[in-house]
Amino acid sequence: MKKFFKIILIIFFSLGFLFQKVYSAEKQKLLKVDWSFKGYFGKFDRASLQRGYQVYNEVCASCHSMKYLSYRNLAEKGGPEFSKEEAKAIAANFEVTDGPNDDGEMFTRPAKLSDKFVNPYQNDKEAAASNGGAYPPDMSVLVKARSGGANYIYSVLLGYEDPPSGVTLDDGVYYNKYMYGNNIKMPKVLEDDLVVYNDGTVASEEQMAKDVVTFLAWAAEPHLEARHRIGFKAIIYLIILSFLAYFSMKRLWSRIESKI
Ligand code: HEC
Repeated sequence: MKKFFKIILIIFFSLGFLFQKVYSAEKQKLLKVDWSFKGYFGKFDRASLQRGYQVYNEVCASCHSMKYLSYRNLAEKGGPEFSKEEAKAIAANFEVTDGPNDDGEMFTRPAKLSDKFVNPYQNDKEAAASNGGAYPPDMSVLVKARSGGANYIYSVLLGYEDPPSGVTLDDGVYYNKYMYGNNIKMPKVLEDDLVVYNDGTVASEEQMAKDVVTFLAWAAEPHLEARHRIGFKAIIYLIILSFLAYFSMKRLWSRIESKI
């Protein structure tokens, strides 16, 4: 009987070990970046956020909307922290439809800080029709919506390859190592030196991918820094509280004589 249990145990552990191997191999497939915003004290890298906005605006925004973001968010604390004037100037580059005016007509005007990010398409149908039937997802919370989060999006951006021999792709479909099913209807968009960074950072493919994903991670969780700060304070508070509770307990019980 004992032997039987031993064998069962051995099988159990080896299966567990095997699954863990397979599972972690699956996970390790994504490219990994040492993100500054991970961990308990994680903070966004401001310069990277500003560069990331530039990449989003110059490269991704022609297809992907970010409908939950307003231009004023670009100047808020915890974000890219552009100055208010810079954010105003950024907004003014876009046109929004407003109205109706006193004549009952709609009109266009430059965007203001309070406006949401302008959508590249009139509606989802137009977006899909312009992209071979695939709708470019809104990127406001995409980092949260995909398992693998920031690493996944970073990997997809850098994961374009020629399809393996024997695999043929339809027109407008591309091979991507990290996309589910390996087929993606988004062309490879990043090339070295595609954008020119104001701060002199070399715009390699990896750098642009890292910057734009940092920007997307902030967009998906704009209060991350505040949350980390509050979490840290709460832990300090709890530690002090436990000390107080411990010493007051000691003091209270010290009046009772131990009989042991
Ligand atoms: C030419 C239009 C176009 C541009 C430019 C573009 N995308 Fe896309 N993107 C698409 C389309 C279309 C899809 C949907 C693909 C699909 O479902 O096969 C997509 C999907 C994605 C996905 C989702 C993959 C998934 O898991 O569903 C991510 C992430 C993404 N794009 C990131 C970016 C980033 C970041 C940029 C800018 C650096 C960018 N895209 C620029 C058209 C574009």
